Amino acid sequence: MYTWNDDYSVNVSVCDKEHQKLFRLMDELAGSINNVKSELLAHTIYELISYASEHFTNEEQLMEINDYPALEQHKKDHDKFKERIQDFVVKFSDDNEALANEVLEYLRNWFVNHIIGVDKKYGPYLNERGIT
Ligand SMILES: [Fe+2]
Ligand SMILES: [Fe+2]
Repeated sequence: MYTWNDDYSVNVSVCDKEHQKLFRLMDELAGSINNVKSELLAHTIYELISYASEHFTNEEQLMEINDYPALEQHKKDHDKFKERIQDFVVKFSDDNEALANEVLEYLRNWFVNHIIGVDKKYGPYLNERGIT
């Protein structure tokens, strides 16, 4: 359910690896919701959010140094996500299982849609510049 598959490949290995880690973290998050380990749950949510930010920075840098034309729009999509996820963090408390499920659902939908609809577009552009 929370596993990365080849359909999500952007054909740039460094980005695929980071996306794979995001899916692993979502899977961990799903596990800690089921086990109702509240401390672990909060920890995993924060880890996921901070890793997502780190990934956005790396991805934006890669696009920037290669003069990717759609960089600004892509950054806006990342920023919108960061704002939305902040709302969740503000509302979140350790024992809030329903909200944790809502966060997880949001994360999964967002990452799948973003990777397929937005990230995948930089693949051919970067490949042409020798980045695979
Ligand atoms: Fe992205
Ligand atoms: Fe990405």
